[in-house]
Amino acid sequence: MEYRKLIAEAVAAKESAYVPYSHFRVGAAILTRSGEIYSGCNIENASFSATNCAERTAVFKAVSEGRREFEALAVNGDNGDYLPPCGVCRQVLAEFCDLDTFLVILANSEEDYRVMTLGELLPGAFSRESLRAGGTSGDEK
Ligand code: THU
Repeated sequence: MEYRKLIAEAVAAKESAYVPYSHFRVGAAILTRSGEIYSGCNIENASFSATNCAERTAVFKAVSEGRREFEALAVNGDNGDYLPPCGVCRQVLAEFCDLDTFLVILANSEEDYRVMTLGELLPGAFSRESLRAGGTSGDEK
């Protein structure tokens, strides 16, 4: 798929950002393997640590609708440059997305973007494999 539509959805999602504290809007959109797009914005909270990033909003919306297989995510922020997803969002993506093939599109616009694999963004990821040595298969649920 071409990235333009995914980027456009990420940019549009920024409009719903709830950012009374940082005034820094972020939008994201994730593409499922079956071609659906789920978008999300950042949602802040007076208790700052309760803030949810745009990327996680998009992933959680998709997973809560029964989607677990993804191809790519586009992200766009108010920073005026390629916005790198935070570490927590990278970890959440790694739960569902293949490190070698899942693409993260850091987009300034539909014409100006940078594409990275999730593995490039999160080398040495902690995963369900990492849990095995501790005596749990990680496959219970
Ligand atoms: N933020 C995101 O939505 N995604 C990121 O990957 C980085 C940070 C949000 C969280 C908070 O609302 C604001 O940007 C400033 O950190």
